[in-house]
Amino acid sequence: MTNLASRNVPTHVAIIMDGNGRWAKSRGLPRSMGHRKGVEAVREAVRTAGSVGIGYLTLFAFSSENWSRPESEVSDLMGLLKIFIRRDLAVLHKEHVRIRVIGDRSNLRDDILPLLIEAEETTKQNTGITLVIAFNYGSRDEMARAARAMAADAMAGRIRPDEITPERISSYLDTAGIPDPDLIIRTSGEERLSNFLLWQAAYSEFVFIPDFWPDFKRETFLAALETYAGRERRFGRVSAPPLAVGS
Ligand code: FPP
Repeated sequence: MTNLASRNVPTHVAIIMDGNGRWAKSRGLPRSMGHRKGVEAVREAVRTAGSVGIGYLTLFAFSSENWSRPESEVSDLMGLLKIFIRRDLAVLHKEHVRIRVIGDRSNLRDDILPLLIEAEETTKQNTGITLVIAFNYGSRDEMARAARAMAADAMAGRIRPDEITPERISSYLDTAGIPDPDLIIRTSGEERLSNFLLWQAAYSEFVFIPDFWPDFKRETFLAALETYAGRERRFGRVSAPPLAVGS
C-alpha cells in the first residue's frame, strides 16, 4: 500500500457515501447516529485522500432528492453539515484544503448558504486537496440549470449555437474547472449512480464497496485505490493512451 502514491493515483475521486441508515439499523440505533458516524468517516476520507496525493475529493453530502426524507432527518443532515463546517473549517484551512460546493444554491436556508460561502471564501487560495461538497446536488438539475444559462447567453448574443461543444457545456456546470472524476466509489453494496455527476462520469472507473459508509476506513479507501490502479482505462480506444510528454 505504501507505494500507492507513486503509481496511478487518481486525480479526482468522487464518493457516494451510502449506508448510514443501515449501519445504524444493524446496531439498533437511530438513523441520526449513522449520519453522525458518517461525518467521522468523512474526516478520515479527506485525510486519506490528502495523504496519498489525490487532487480532488468530491463527496455526495445531500442530494436534491433527499428533501423528501422525514423532516427530522433532513434537519439532522443540515445540522451535521453546519457542525462540520463550523468545527472543521479551521483545521481544513490549516491543512491547505480548498473547499468547493456544488449543487443548487437558490432557496437554501439562510443559516446554511452563508456557511458554505464562508468555507469557499476562506479556503479559495489554498493549494492542497480540493474538497468538493455536493450539497442540494442532482445531476439532471445541474444540467437543466446549465442549459438555462446557455440559452440565456445565446439569446443575449454571448454564445452562438455552433460554439456549444462538450467543453463549453462542462464550463456551464457546477463542476467548471474541476477535472472529471477518474474514480467513483459507492459504499453499501448499491451499484448505481443515483443522479450523481452523470455528465462528468463519462469515463470514470467505478468501485463498489459492500461496507456501509460509517465503516469506510483508511484501509477501505486504500484498497479501492489499489483496485483503481489495476484498471486499464481506454477512453474508447483499443489500448490505454500513451502518457503525455511531461506528465
Ligand atoms: C447515505 O446514507 C448518506 C447520506 C444521505 C448523507 C451523507 C451525509 C453525511 C455522511 C454527513 C454530512 C456530510 C458532510 C460532508 C459533513 P443513507 O441515509 O441513505 O443510508 P441508507 O441507504 O442505509 O438508509
